Amino acid sequence: LSNWPLVQIVHRPGVLDLAWGHPDPSLLPLEAVQRAARRALDDYGSETLQYGHPAGPGPLRAWLADHLGRLEGRAPDADEVLITAGISHGLDLLLHHIAAPGDTVLVESPTYHLAVRILRDQGLRLAPAVTDEHGLRVDALRETLAGLRRKGRRAKALYLVPTFNNPTGVSLPLERRQALVEVAAREKMLIVEDDVYRELAYDGPAPPSLWSLAPEGVVARLGSFAKTLAPGLRVGWLTGPRDIVAALRDGGLLDSGGGISHFAGAITAALCAAGDYEAHVSGLRAAYGARRDALHQALEAHLPAGSRVTRPGGGFFVWVRLPEAGPSAAEALAGAEALGVSYLPGERFYLDGQGARTLRLAFSLYAPEELREAARRLGQAWA
Ligand SMILES: Cc1ncc(COP(=O)(O)O)c(C=O)c1O
Repeated sequence: LSNWPLVQIVHRPGVLDLAWGHPDPSLLPLEAVQRAARRALDDYGSETLQYGHPAGPGPLRAWLADHLGRLEGRAPDADEVLITAGISHGLDLLLHHIAAPGDTVLVESPTYHLAVRILRDQGLRLAPAVTDEHGLRVDALRETLAGLRRKGRRAKALYLVPTFNNPTGVSLPLERRQALVEVAAREKMLIVEDDVYRELAYDGPAPPSLWSLAPEGVVARLGSFAKTLAPGLRVGWLTGPRDIVAALRDGGLLDSGGGISHFAGAITAALCAAGDYEAHVSGLRAAYGARRDALHQALEAHLPAGSRVTRPGGGFFVWVRLPEAGPSAAEALAGAEALGVSYLPGERFYLDGQGARTLRLAFSLYAPEELREAARRLGQAWA
């Protein structure tokens, strides 16, 4: 029984595995969480171990309101913010509430492949929203919505990762953000904004969130401490329309269980109140920014001529488009792994089978010198 695993990741000896978008264990805030756990138990006493408030621990929601206000110029009030167990949980909870099996939901393509799994698990009918090298195409979205209307259908929601996208690293330009919230408001389609990488910005602040730009009722934004602190905490949040927040907060699940991840939320609140959050995230920006640079530069040097390598402004991923000649990303995978490097073929991130000549590389797990070696092995694999 001692071999039963504690974590999800499976290491393969000898392989630099750039398929995993997990944080580097050496960058997880062990000591800050230790201090915060003690502080939570000291400061909040037995309430740390009680059934929590259904909307999440008050001190964490208050810290978030203040933090988001400073970060984005728009602070959610107490009825606009709900603590979740992370974005995966928030997405599941939200879509269960707003949609029923068989309803149509638009998903930008390519997009975070595991969010697609969550939506498919709910029996939703998914349709791709077209993107280009700058992200979602709002003109194409208008056509898609008109096409659905002609068939007597409408989209209940649109899911997208507009900031430091997984997998492409791209951020949607401001004009498209503004046009998108206008279209959604007119169509009465809820935008589900996955904002997981906002604070891992390496070249200056991220563009404003769709939530901060939109009138109330148009956007539900999902945030998480998974990338900025630790995924194992299972603490995230939702800022969105008051009626949705109220329905989730007052629903049976959060009422019966007393909120979600209450203990971890209280620890997170204590960590943030002590000022450890900003210090930690600023260290992550320096560390992951250096990794982004190392991988990007080495890929430019080692990949075959004609490859296009994105330089993401934030997040965990570099996206590569291979030249037309030669093997596809999926065809080359076994050869790359034999040379000790792995990645995710880009097809995984498309709803409609495109992307054969693309691949995603995560730079989060490895030090710069390992990333340079990974790029060298990839170059060798294509050579
Ligand atoms: C775009 C995106 N959304 C959500 C998640 C998962 O978020 P959480 O750990 O908060 O459930 C990830 C993790 O890789 C991600 O890349």
